Amino acid sequence: MEELIISPSLLSANFANLFDDIAKAEAGGAKWLHYDVMDGHFVNNISFGLPVVECISKTHKLVNDVHLMISDPLRYVKRFCDAGADYVTFHLEACKDANEVWEVCDLIHSCGKKAGLSIRPETKIEEVFPFIYSLDLVLIMSVVPGFGGQEFDNEALGKILKLKQFFKENDITKTYISVDGGINETTGTLCKGVGANVLVAGSYIFKSDDIQGAVGKLLKWI
Ligand code: DX5
Ligand code: ZN
Repeated sequence: MEELIISPSLLSANFANLFDDIAKAEAGGAKWLHYDVMDGHFVNNISFGLPVVECISKTHKLVNDVHLMISDPLRYVKRFCDAGADYVTFHLEACKDANEVWEVCDLIHSCGKKAGLSIRPETKIEEVFPFIYSLDLVLIMSVVPGFGGQEFDNEALGKILKLKQFFKENDITKTYISVDGGINETTGTLCKGVGANVLVAGSYIFKSDDIQGAVGKLLKWI
């Protein structure tokens, strides 16, 4: 759990050259690959969906880290599990009540996959605490979900710190703390410093002239 995991976000990759971009990220030391699925309803953007996850997840050895920015996750999570997701992360704000959050987690686990819960910047970290024993990962958004290339919101650091503290008090050792949005060497170092163990980075990695080197820099600097 001490190891830092880099999860490059495909949203900023070259979609005409995904295979090469992924291979470079993997060569740089990335262990996971992050898929931002957007439905144009839960967020103000549309990205890609099931067929892309299904094809791409078979082309590499990275852990498939699927981030669903969609309404009605209960309706779709099983299909993302079947498409090859290893971690399926959905949004707390997309669920109508607490029972639905537990139901989505149970469904993901019944498919033999790992469940993640994400919160938008305006949601308090305390709101994930009741679900913690059903979660394998908590994804803290450090930008408003929907677009890559935005600036890191420092309030995410306080949330990571509080979650880490909650984990300590409750002896939770196997749940990942992931942070997503505006990650670069500087913000990544800050996140790791307060307890994050998965860094999702899109534009810093895939908009770089040296994709392999960018992953390597995140791992080395942090
Ligand atoms: C935003 C997505 C992020 C995004 C991060 O809605 O969830 O995963 O790709 O991109 P950067 O690293 O460019 O902020
Ligand atoms: Zn994401």
